[in-house]
Amino acid sequence: MKRNSRRLWKLAKEECNTQYYDASPKGELIAKEGHYQYNIRDLIRRYGSPLEIVFPHIVEQRVRHLTGLFDAYIKLNDYKGRFFYHYPMKVNQGKEVVLSLVSEGANLETSSANELWIVKRLAEQGKVTPRLRILCNGPKTLKYLNLIDELDRKGVIVTPMIEEAHELDYFRRYKGEVGVRVNLNIKIDSHWDKKFNRFGFQEEELLELGKIRNLGVLSYHISSQIERVEGLTAPIRRAFQLYAKMRTLNPQLDTINIGGGAGVPYEKRRFYTAKAAVGLIVKTFKKMARELNVREPNIICEWGRYVVAPAQMTVFQVLSEKTVTNGHSKKWYTVDGSFITDLPDTWGIHQKWHIVPANNMDSRRLQKVWLAGSTCDSDDKYTAGGGHILLPKLEPGDEQYIAVLDTGAYQDSLANRHCLLSRPVKLIAQNGDVTVVRKRESPEDVGRKFGW
Ligand SMILES: Cc1ncc(COP(=O)(O)O)c(C=O)c1O
Repeated sequence: MKRNSRRLWKLAKEECNTQYYDASPKGELIAKEGHYQYNIRDLIRRYGSPLEIVFPHIVEQRVRHLTGLFDAYIKLNDYKGRFFYHYPMKVNQGKEVVLSLVSEGANLETSSANELWIVKRLAEQGKVTPRLRILCNGPKTLKYLNLIDELDRKGVIVTPMIEEAHELDYFRRYKGEVGVRVNLNIKIDSHWDKKFNRFGFQEEELLELGKIRNLGVLSYHISSQIERVEGLTAPIRRAFQLYAKMRTLNPQLDTINIGGGAGVPYEKRRFYTAKAAVGLIVKTFKKMARELNVREPNIICEWGRYVVAPAQMTVFQVLSEKTVTNGHSKKWYTVDGSFITDLPDTWGIHQKWHIVPANNMDSRRLQKVWLAGSTCDSDDKYTAGGGHILLPKLEPGDEQYIAVLDTGAYQDSLANRHCLLSRPVKLIAQNGDVTVVRKRESPEDVGRKFGW
């Protein structure tokens, strides 16, 4: 029975990133951390629902694995450049996530003055070594520029990524290394390939700029949730052409930053592995350097979603069911949280999720459902892109809970207050213990944010 539940719900499968999850003999969802385990149904009993549960050990394991892969392929290919992982903080700024990554040797990438302020705090508290490197992307407001200057003066290694002409003017006086961001003239297969990219300089513009003082990094970010490995390697070939040309006037340019973009198998279908992707990336770097007869550059990668998405789940209770009208054989299950407020990418970019029951996992009475959130909004729903979600039938007198997996990337900072719903309680599960980092909000707590 247990093995069947595991297969049915696609748990304990490394290729699906569900190796951290299993079903208990009682049919309850279990999260594992080495020999520690967390029974999700028990956590609901203790803390209620909805819940968000963060597993820092998953973040640590993934970044360790990723940097290990790059280092191994660099050695295998006798590649001369070095590898630097920079965690893009926009993906999840939670303290437990950022500190876990820094503890594994991750460098950071910021996209705003407020994210850089977090770095300033870490530095002021003496928490980070002087070797931590920071890349600053995003539009540079005056506050952001001042903070970059301040940290540079204090000896923090801060590399501003110049994205626009006015930034170029400002950083002419900058003492440290700078980078430039290019908007590569290439299209790749991805969910969110943008037709009009407003970030960075055009390739020709960069060549016209000629010499740039202290230029060390050529940077791009092509897309997110890239569907095929070729989507990760084709931009490298394009960027290399530019790197080679720019080096004639900027011989100190020694690094290519490939940005973010590696995908996560949210739908638990076949997907490329990090091993395959990293192997090809390093090979492509090696081949291009040889072809263009340029020094093998250092490689920076800013994969965010890949590292953090699998490290969080969101848990809801099913409140009620009703039949989907218009002749469908499905039921609506209304949950006690919201796709618009708690998992806004469902609404914003039609994000697909893997959803499993948190109890009754071995029930034989299953049905096809769509999920409805608790706001009044007709868009507050999850229909698996018009498909369905298979879940246990609701039994009288029994409570049904569901877990949405892979919710660690982007959802928390995008979350909102539609209909003044309270945010889920946020738990951190680490070293066998569970800590509450966001309490259940009372009406007073929420009302206060709106002046009440
Ligand atoms: C500059 C930059 N780097 C990295 C990332 C992270 O992308 P992903 O989470 O898809 O890896 C982003 C996402 O928007 C980005 O804008």
